[in-house]
Amino acid sequence: MPTNTHILFPLVCLCFALCTLHVSSSDSDSLILSCGSSSGGVGDDGRKWEPDSKYLVSSGNSIPAEAQYQDPSLPSKTPYLSARIFTSESTYKISVKPKKRYWVRFHFYPSTYSSLDPSDAFFSVIANGVTLLNNFSASITAKALTQAYIFREYSLAPLNSDHLNIAFKPSDKHDGAFAFVNGIEVSPMPDLFDSATLVGFSDQSVESQSANLQTMFRLNVGGQYISASNDSGLTRTWYDDSPYLDAAAIGVTDEASKNVTIHYKDLPAHVAPVDVYRTLRSMGPEYEVNKNYNLTWVFRVDGNFTYLARLHFCDIQSTKINQVVFDIFINNQTAEANADVIAWTGAIAVPMYKDYAIYVSDGQGDEELRVALHPSISMKPEFYDSLLNGLEIFKLNDTTGNLAGPNPEPSAMLAKAESEAAKSFAPSKSSSNVTVIGGAAGGAAAFGIVAALCIAVYQRKKRVPGTESNASSWLPIYGNSHTTASKSTISGKSTTSTHVSSRDGGNCRHFSLEEIKQATKNFDESYVIGVGGFGKVYKGVIDGTTKVAIKRSNPSSEQGVHEFRTEIEMLSKLRHRHLVSLIGFCDEDNEMALVYDYMAYGTLREHLYKGNKPHLSWKQRLEICIGAARGLHYLHTGAKYIIIHRDVKTTNILLDENWVAKVSDFGLSKTGPELNQTHVSTVVKGSFGYLDPEYYRRQQLTEKSDVYSFGVVLFEVLCARPALNPSLSKEQVSLADWALHCQRKGTNIEDIIDPHLKGKIKPECLKKFTETAYKCLSDQGIDRPSMGDLLWNLEFALQLQENLEDAKQDSGSAENSNSGELHNCPMRLHFSNLSLGSENDISEQSDDSNTNAIFSQIVNPKGR
Ligand SMILES: *[C@@H]1O[C@H](CO)[C@@H](O)[C@H](O)[C@H]1NC(C)=O
Ligand SMILES: *[C@@H]1O[C@H](CO)[C@@H](O)[C@H](O)[C@H]1NC(C)=O
Ligand SMILES: *[C@@H]1O[C@H](CO)[C@@H](O)[C@H](O)[C@H]1NC(C)=O
Ligand SMILES: *[C@@H]1O[C@H](CO)[C@@H](O)[C@H](O)[C@H]1NC(C)=O
Ligand SMILES: *[C@@H]1O[C@H](CO)[C@@H](O)[C@H](O)[C@H]1NC(C)=O
Ligand SMILES: *[C@@H]1O[C@H](CO)[C@@H](O)[C@H](O)[C@H]1NC(C)=O
Ligand SMILES: *[C@@H]1O[C@H](CO)[C@@H](O)[C@H](O)[C@H]1NC(C)=O
Ligand SMILES: *[C@@H]1O[C@H](CO)[C@@H](O)[C@H](O)[C@H]1NC(C)=O
Ligand SMILES: *[C@@H]1O[C@H](CO)[C@@H](O)[C@H](O)[C@H]1NC(C)=O
Ligand SMILES: *[C@@H]1O[C@H](CO)[C@@H](O)[C@H](O)[C@H]1NC(C)=O
Ligand SMILES: *[C@@H]1O[C@H](CO)[C@@H](O)[C@H](O)[C@H]1NC(C)=O
Repeated sequence: MPTNTHILFPLVCLCFALCTLHVSSSDSDSLILSCGSSSGGVGDDGRKWEPDSKYLVSSGNSIPAEAQYQDPSLPSKTPYLSARIFTSESTYKISVKPKKRYWVRFHFYPSTYSSLDPSDAFFSVIANGVTLLNNFSASITAKALTQAYIFREYSLAPLNSDHLNIAFKPSDKHDGAFAFVNGIEVSPMPDLFDSATLVGFSDQSVESQSANLQTMFRLNVGGQYISASNDSGLTRTWYDDSPYLDAAAIGVTDEASKNVTIHYKDLPAHVAPVDVYRTLRSMGPEYEVNKNYNLTWVFRVDGNFTYLARLHFCDIQSTKINQVVFDIFINNQTAEANADVIAWTGAIAVPMYKDYAIYVSDGQGDEELRVALHPSISMKPEFYDSLLNGLEIFKLNDTTGNLAGPNPEPSAMLAKAESEAAKSFAPSKSSSNVTVIGGAAGGAAAFGIVAALCIAVYQRKKRVPGTESNASSWLPIYGNSHTTASKSTISGKSTTSTHVSSRDGGNCRHFSLEEIKQATKNFDESYVIGVGGFGKVYKGVIDGTTKVAIKRSNPSSEQGVHEFRTEIEMLSKLRHRHLVSLIGFCDEDNEMALVYDYMAYGTLREHLYKGNKPHLSWKQRLEICIGAARGLHYLHTGAKYIIIHRDVKTTNILLDENWVAKVSDFGLSKTGPELNQTHVSTVVKGSFGYLDPEYYRRQQLTEKSDVYSFGVVLFEVLCARPALNPSLSKEQVSLADWALHCQRKGTNIEDIIDPHLKGKIKPECLKKFTETAYKCLSDQGIDRPSMGDLLWNLEFALQLQENLEDAKQDSGSAENSNSGELHNCPMRLHFSNLSLGSENDISEQSDDSNTNAIFSQIVNPKGR
C-alpha cells in the first residue's frame, strides 16, 4: 500500500535546497542539528547547523559517518553528507517549552555510510511516545520517489514535559538493520490547529489541537513554489499544485493584480503567506464547461488514518455574495455545500481557510484523498465557477499515537517491467534481487517532494488546422558550451544559486552587436537558415571557427524586450545534454539576438524521409528517441519549473555531429498569468498531426500532451512517413490515426513499418517499442505513460535489441554473454541514468563541450 502520492509526472527534485530553512530571529529557540558531524556547518542556504552529539542521551551505540558519495541533486553538503548511524535504540533529548506545539523535521540521505548498505536501514522514529516512522526504509522511499533524499515534517502536539525525546530504533524484523539520520530540526510553532468537521458526519468534529500531525502536502494552488524563507515566518515550503490535478480538467490559474492588497483582517499572518492568497486556480471562463466538471486534486495517502484538509481561499475577483458559489467534495462526500467566499469574508481580497477532517479507510491498493470543487448550480450564482488558493493536507495520529505508514512501492508499470527484465536477463543471483527501482512513475510521495513551479500550462485557444505557421516560437535555452559554461555545471544548478540567477542570464555569454554582425556578415540574407516567430535565424561563425545559429529578434515581433529578458533568465537555468544549448545573447541598440550551438546533422526528420540521406539503423533511431525522451523528461521533471514543450516533432529534434539528439524550439516561456488577465492565455503552439486530442478537445494542456506528440514521433521513426500526409488515402492521412486504426484492425505492424527496417528489428524489441508508442497515443492523458516511464521502456527496448544482437554474436560463450547482460542490466541503467540522469547528463555534457569545440544548430526553414 504505497504511501506515494499520485503525481502525473515524476519529479526529480533538484531544488530541495529551497525548502531548507532560514532561521528568522523569532525562531531563536529552534534547534538545527547536523547529525554525525563533529563541528556542524553552514548549509548552502546560509543556515547554521550544529553538531548533534551533545543532545544524544548515550552515544555508545551510534557512529558518526560520512556519506561516500555526494549525489549531485543534494541541495547542500550540510547536513546530508554526514549521518549518525544507530545500531541499537538511541535517543536525542532536546529541551523544549512545555505546552507549546513544535515542528520536527527530519532529513535522510540514504547513501553508503561506513560500508553499510542503505537498503538495510529499517527503523522507527518515536518522539515522546508518538511513532513518527515505523519500519521505515529511506532507501526504498527515495527510490520510489526517484529522489536522492527524503524530508519529513511533523507537528507535535503541545507537550506536558520540558524535553522532547526522539528515539531511533532499528527494526528487529530485519537482520542487520540499522537506523540513521542526517539532519533534525526542532522549532516552536504557533497553534495552527483547531477542530474540524468530519466530512460525512456534520455533527461530529475532530479535535486537532491535541493531535500530532504529519504534513503530507502543502500546495500554493495556482501559484508557485514558495521557499521556506519566503513563508510567513514558519519556514514551511509550499509547492505548485499542478502535479496533483486530476489530469482531465485542470482549470485556469489567476493572480491578483499588483494594485490589489490582501487584507488579513482577523486571520493571523502566519497562517499562510500572501503569495498563497494572491494566486488561485479556478475553473475557467466557459461556464457551460464548468457545469460539467469537477475541479479535482488527487493525493495518495495511507489508509486507516484521519486526514485534515485545510483549504485556503481568497477571492480576488468577485465583490458580491452569490457571484461564485460552489460545493466542496472530499472523497466524493459533500464537505461543504454552497461555499461562497465573499459571504464568508465579507470582502474581496480577504483570506480565510476552512478545515475538514476525513477518515480514509484501508482499502486494497492505493488509498486516495480527492478534493473536488463544483459550482452550486442550485444556488444560481452569477458565475458558474469555483476557486481555491491553497491546500494543506495533514495526517492525524491514530488512537495508538501512531503516524507511520508503510514504505511506498514502485509503480505497477515499473514493477512489471522489472519482472520482465528479470525474466529476460538470466536467472542469476544478482538479477533475482534487483532492488526495487524507483519508479519515475512511482510518483512523489509525501510532502516535500514536488518542488515544481508550473508555468504556462494553459491554452485557451484551439489551434485551427491549416494555420500551422512556419513561425517558430523558439526560446533560447542556456546550455553548456565551449565558452564559459563548463565551469558552471552541477553546482550552479541544483542549489539555490540558480534560482537567483543574474539578470544578465547567468553564465550566458554576452555578445556585442559588432560580434554578431561579424558572425553573420551583417545579417546577410544568404546566411539565413530559417525564419521564426521571433525573427530570422542566421548561421554564423564566432571566435573564428565556432559555428553557431543566431536568432535575431524581429523588431516588429510581439515579443518585446521584457520577454527577451525573461526568456534568457528562465532558460539560462536549463542545461542538458539533450537540449539544444544557448551560447549567449546580444542586446544592444535595439538589436536582440540569441546565439545557439549549430547542429551539424540537422533535423531528425530529414534523416527519416524526404532528406535523401542514408537510412538510419534501428539502433541509431532508438538511441535518438532515447536522447530526445531524456531531454523532454528533463523539461518535465528536472528543472525547477515544469516545462511543457508543446511542439514535439521530428523537426524539433536536432542531431549534432555525434548523432546526439537535442530537443530544440521551446514553445513555452510564460511564467504565469499576464498581470491584467484572469488566466494564462498564450497563443497555442503545436503542430497539426502531433496535437494531443484531449488537449484539443478540452483546451487544457498537460505534459502528457508532449507524450502524445512524442508517440507520433515514435511512429514516424518506425514508419518513416510524415505525421500528416494528405496525399494518402483518408484513413492514412494522419499517422497517429493510421497507427491506431491498424492496432484496432489487428494489422501486422510489420506491414506499416519502414521497409528499410523490415527484418532488422528484433521482435521483442519491436513489440516493446510499439506497445510503448501506442500507450503514448492513448486518448486520455492519464492513460499515457510519463516521460520517465517512456524513457525506461525505450531503454528497455534498446536493451532487448542489443542483448539479442550480442547473444547472437557470442552464442558460443554463455558465460560471457551472461555477464554482459548483467552489466547491461536495464534497471541499473535506468536508475543511474534516469533518476540522477539530468545531473549525470550535465557532467557528460561538459566533457563533450571540451572535446568538441563545434556545436551547431540548424533550424530548418522547411521545418514547419
Ligand atoms: C522570495 O521571494 C522573492 C520575491 O518573490 C524572490 O525574489 C526570492 O527569490 C524568494 N526567495 C527564495 C529563497 O525563494
Ligand atoms: C487596479 O488597477 C486597474 C487599472 O490599473 C483598475 O482598473 C482596477 O480597478 C484596480 N483594482 C483595484 C482593486 O483597485
Ligand atoms: C487498518 O485497520 C484494519 C482494521 O482495524 C486492519 O485490519 C488493517 O490491517 C489496518 N491496515 C493498516 C494498513 O494498518
Ligand atoms: C469517488 O468517485 C470517483 C469517480 O466516480 C471514483 O473513481 C473514486 O474511487 C471515488 N472515491 C471514493 C473514495 O469513493
Ligand atoms: C463531482 O463530484 C461529486 C462528488 O464526487 C459527484 O457526485 C459529482 O457527480 C461530480 N460531478 C461531475 C460533473 O463530475
Ligand atoms: C493521538 O495520540 C494521542 C497520544 O499521543 C492520543 O491522546 C490522541 O487521542 C490521538 N489522537 C487520535 C485522533 O486518536
Ligand atoms: C518493512 O518494510 C518492507 C519494505 O516495505 C516490507 O517488505 C516488510 O514487510 C516490512 N516489515 C514489516 C515488519 O512491516
Ligand atoms: C539476493 O537474493 C538472495 C536470495 O534470493 C539473498 O540470499 C541475497 O542476500 C540477496 N542479495 C542482496 C544483495 O540482497
Ligand atoms: C510560411 O511560409 C510560406 C512559404 O514557405 C510563406 O508564404 C508564409 O508567409 C509563411 N508564413 C509565415 C507566418 O511566416
Ligand atoms: C493586457 O495588457 C496588454 C498590454 O499591457 C493589452 O494589450 C491587453 O489587451 C490587455 N489584456 C486585457 C485582457 O486587458
Ligand atoms: C547510463 O549510465 C551508465 C552507468 O552509469 C553509463 O555507462 C551509460 O553511459 C549511461 N548511458 C547514457 C545514455 O547516459
